[in-house]
Parts: sequence; C-alpha cells; structure tokens
Amino acid sequence: MPHAIPKAAVELEDLAFHEGVPVLLRRALEPLKPGELLEVRGDSTDFVNYLQAWCRKEGHSYHGAGKAPGCYLIEKGEIERTVARPGSEVAEVAEPYWGLAPRGAAIELGGPEYSFPLRKKGDVWGQELHTIYSKAVSNQWAAAKDIPWNEIPKLPVEVERAVCQVMTFLTENEFAALYVPARFLARIHPHYREVSSVLAMQVVDEARHAEAFTRRAEERGMGLGTTAASGQLSLQTLIEEPDFSTAVFLLCVMGEGTFLPLLKFLEERAPDPVTALLMRYAHRDEGRHVAFGVGHIRYVTGLEPARRATFAAAVARRSQMLASVSGLSPFVHDAMVIYSGGGVSPAQIRRGAAFVAGLHREMDRARRERLQNLGFSGDEAEALSAYHTKNFM
Ligand SMILES: [Fe+2]
Ligand SMILES: [Fe+2]
Repeated sequence: MPHAIPKAAVELEDLAFHEGVPVLLRRALEPLKPGELLEVRGDSTDFVNYLQAWCRKEGHSYHGAGKAPGCYLIEKGEIERTVARPGSEVAEVAEPYWGLAPRGAAIELGGPEYSFPLRKKGDVWGQELHTIYSKAVSNQWAAAKDIPWNEIPKLPVEVERAVCQVMTFLTENEFAALYVPARFLARIHPHYREVSSVLAMQVVDEARHAEAFTRRAEERGMGLGTTAASGQLSLQTLIEEPDFSTAVFLLCVMGEGTFLPLLKFLEERAPDPVTALLMRYAHRDEGRHVAFGVGHIRYVTGLEPARRATFAAAVARRSQMLASVSGLSPFVHDAMVIYSGGGVSPAQIRRGAAFVAGLHREMDRARRERLQNLGFSGDEAEALSAYHTKNFM
C-alpha cells in the first residue's frame, strides 16, 4: 500500500449508491493524486459490495475496512488525464481541440477538432475591443421605436426622390458592410470572442441601417431608386477580399472611414429632421466600426509593420479592377446635389454641387489623416486616398 494514511475522508451516512454516492465519491477523489487513499464512511444496505463494484468499474482499488467502524479505504487509480486547462489568458495560438470551450474553462479531452482558420491572435486581435463592444451594446437603437416616422414632412417631389435615391445607395453599401464581417465571423476561433462579439454587433448595426434606410425610402410612398452597376462592381471587389485584415482595412478604415464625413454631411444637409436623425444614429454606429478597423490595423501593423505595404497594394489592386469606373455614379451624385441643394432650380443646384464638391475634399482629408495616424507617410496616404473607390465604400 503506497500510503497508509488516508489523504481525505468523505461521509456518506446512509446514502445508497443508486441515490447518488458516486457524485460524492468523485468529488472526494478529484483533488487526490493516483495512489493516495480516501476514507469512505457509509452504512447503507450492502454498501461494501457496491463500493467494491464501483471501484472496479472506475479503475480505483478497494483496500478493505479502515480503522473506525463503517469506514473503508479506497485508493485512487492511475486514470489518464481527461481534462486540459488552457487558462483564461488570451493565447497567441488557439488549438483546434479547444473548439467552442469558453476561454478559462477546463476542456474534457477526446472531443472533436474544429477547423477555425483564423486561430492566431496576430490574425484577428485589435485594440480597444472591450470598449467598442460595450459602446455597441449600450448604443443600440431600433428603427421601429426610436425614429418618429410620422414626422417626415411632405417634401417637394424632386427632393423626396433624391432622398430615396440616396437611401438606395446607402442600403447597398450597408449590405456590403454586413456581409464582410459576417463572412469572417464564422472563421474566427471562439477563443478570440471579443473580436467575434464586436463583429457580431457590427452585423446587427448594418442590418438595422439597411432596414431603416429602406424604410425611409418607402415611408412616403416613393420607394427605392436605382442601384448603379459601378457601385455593385466596387462592392463586389470588397466583399470578395479573402484576407481578414485586408478586408478590415478596405471596409472599416477606407470605406466606413469615408462614410463618416458622408453621414455627417447627409445629417447636416438633410431636407427633414427625421432623415437627419437617421444619419446621426448611423454615424454613431459607423464611428465604432471605424474604431474597430483602426484598432485592428494598428495591432497587426504593430506586430508586422510590413503589412502596411500589403494593405496599400490591395487598395491599388482594387483601383485597377475599377478602372472602368470614372466617378461616382450619376444616380448618386445628382441625388446628393439635389438633396443638399434643396431642389432643382439653378441656384439650388449650384449650392448643392458646391456642397458635394466640399464633401469630396473633406472625405479625402479625413482618409489621409486616418492613414497617417496608422503610420502611413504623407505621400502614401495621399496616393491611397486618391486610389480609393469613387463609390466611397
Ligand atoms: Fe452601416
Ligand atoms: Fe458599418
């Protein structure tokens, strides 16, 4: 006998095996090392026979009666390691067998291996994830209850039509912004749940934007406008980008980064307060999406500064694929001029066209500033901003 003195004791009183004795035995044996003794005290009917049978089945040894009456000794068996404890720290690499285990949980071995392709911290992690997620949770709004739809005034037909066309353009972009994170979400190892959670909130935000913008177009009966082929072409090059960080750079830094001045403009120049409110809410959400993009790109370029060049190459490649697109679609451009100018008289068009030209300058300035904050040189930022898709996203 390796140890004559029991390491621990468990009192079972008159509890029978079929009433749950194994639960208490397993708990008592859990902290013991193989070879150590457990003193078991119990006096239910046929207790010893059941105890011996249980020990045989579970791989422990029965050592006979202990010193006191009604006490028996059992020795913990050599059982193979059945549980892994990866800990609660964020690991550099997440193992396939961790599967869906929450970070910090013990993992019973023998489960399946999962094939999450994005399972390195360096591939997916970012800065400020916790803050971005908390803000996303607390800033949720609902198109059905937070927008006073019945307060949309009756606008001149041309202006209402322009609003509907702008909503159409925004909605197709919302779909792209929904599909990009959704495509990657299922590929990210659950160990990095902060990233998945932020992306999941982003998907929810975009679904809400698409709902609200479509509703704005339909609310006054005019309905959606036209989707431009050039816009679709541009968005296709975005949603088909296979690399996660590159997709985040194109969508959240370049695209949504360009949408921030756009939404601000659409709020300030809105022909009615309801549309302005929609733009304000969407702008707040997009600010978080851009913050995620900036935090992720800052993290990955901090590990590997050379990635800046691959992101820049992706922007240039996309620009070549869109060489046939000469500028913003006339559907969208003209609608924005009328939307911001307030009508179709020559004076209103002059005003609107000047506003839209100013918007383009502001978008370019904001892109360059953001890129320089991410460590791109002034020349690189200028070139990248100029390459950025004419479709804004
Ligand atoms: Fe959005
Ligand atoms: Fe977004």
